[in-house]
Amino acid sequence: MPRPPTDERWPAANGLASIEEAVGAFSLLREYFEGAIVVDAQTRITWMDGRYRELLKLSPSFDPIGLPVEDVIPHSLLRRVVESGRPILLDIMNFDDRQFVVCRIPLKDAQGAVDGAIGFVFYDNVDYLAPILDKFESLHRQLTRAQAALTRERQTKYSLSSFVGQSEPVRELKAMVRRFALRDGAALILGETGTGKELLAHAIHQQSDRADGPFVAVNIAAVPEALLEAEFFGVAPGAFTGADRKPRKGKFELAHGGTLFLDEIGDMPAGIQAKFLRVLQEGEIEALGSNTVKKVDVRIIAATSQDLEAKIADKSFRADLYYRIAVLTVHVPPLRDRREDMAMLCEVLLEQTMRAADERGWVITPEAIRLLQAHAWPGNVRELRNVLERAAALAPSEVLDADVINRAMPPGSVRHGGAPSRTQALAHTVADTERQAIIDALAATGGQKSAAALRLGVSRSQFYEKLKRYNIEQ
Ligand SMILES: Nc1ncnc2c1ncn2[C@@H]1O[C@H](COP(=O)(O)OP(=O)(O)O)[C@@H](O)[C@H]1O
Ligand SMILES: [Mg+2]
Repeated sequence: MPRPPTDERWPAANGLASIEEAVGAFSLLREYFEGAIVVDAQTRITWMDGRYRELLKLSPSFDPIGLPVEDVIPHSLLRRVVESGRPILLDIMNFDDRQFVVCRIPLKDAQGAVDGAIGFVFYDNVDYLAPILDKFESLHRQLTRAQAALTRERQTKYSLSSFVGQSEPVRELKAMVRRFALRDGAALILGETGTGKELLAHAIHQQSDRADGPFVAVNIAAVPEALLEAEFFGVAPGAFTGADRKPRKGKFELAHGGTLFLDEIGDMPAGIQAKFLRVLQEGEIEALGSNTVKKVDVRIIAATSQDLEAKIADKSFRADLYYRIAVLTVHVPPLRDRREDMAMLCEVLLEQTMRAADERGWVITPEAIRLLQAHAWPGNVRELRNVLERAAALAPSEVLDADVINRAMPPGSVRHGGAPSRTQALAHTVADTERQAIIDALAATGGQKSAAALRLGVSRSQFYEKLKRYNIEQ
């Protein structure tokens, strides 16, 4: 029987036929692999070849024999092979920044009982493995890039200074937000659509002790009710919950150590409200299909444009959940209550509106600002941004004057003379058609808003926004 070189230990000959076979194969394989290890039925190391020791940078005086394999190779999967009795024929393991192909095979005694396992490590001097390692490395690079992008995305984009305005209501709001940011309680941001609630949520997170942690946002109105639970709490691997639910982490877990922003909390279905409340009380989550709980440390910031107190009164929102979330409450003023901020807002929003690199930035005339101040802005800053972007697209030069602004204003708003332009006529037609489609969908669904939104192929939040924009009775 061929024997390995005498400077290396070999498992004591314990009469296992398959070990004998492994030894037989050993000298054949030796020139192909970079290292090998053998463990017994308790997954203790019984043998390790010299090259594997070098790979692991074990000091020559260190003796790994008899130690549990994880003490020497923390991420070893040999225990899994011993426990399952099934090989892992092809896997990739990192040693420092090099990747190696590893192959793990259970060793069985004459009766077929698992008696240990052997692991081989290969490197890319084996030609046929090179394509696999290349592919793996390129996927690995892609993954690293995607993860870095995701981390950047999860960091907050805005600080409190991104919230533009110097009017009295804005100064009060900012002072309050600064105070809230230092405390760690749940916060509730109330305000009409487009007033900058999400921007403020980012700012609160950014000013808080959690600034280095993740900021994770969920728009409750945009997630179908049936998927909300999985979205929040995750799906455990192996959970049999249907083909559309692959194992994944919930938003609570992703927000661990940071902030979870719940947009449109007023749209949270009753069933989820109860589960949510429990999580907030216990500080623990349980993924779908899992029977273990996980501790999570998450600060909740919620926002809504709906009247939550009215929803509590008609029992569509739980009072106990409301009190948990409304520890710190801020009201964001609508744009029409802070018209003195208009010039400053236009300046900042126009800076964010692209012009070709060789062109100068946009200029807006004082007369145009006055025109904008006269509008009621039901869609607030978001609507203002849209109007300015439309105006920028319509303007023949870099100057946005009252005429251009007038043409860019939403249909139905105050207009100042002049024949309607072709663009305006089109905007009118589109708006009228959209409005009529919404009214028809509501009629067809007996006033059921979720069903009407589904029919029109828009999210519930978009639907609510449109109801508001077109002033349709709710
Ligand atoms: N005070 C503000 N200063 C600058 N931009 C703002 C301000 N308020 C809102 N915006 C902009 O208006 C848009 C809507 O804001 P968002 O925070 O999503 O509103 P909400 O969540 O209240 O509907 C975003 O593009 C945001 O950057
Ligand atoms: Mg929003």
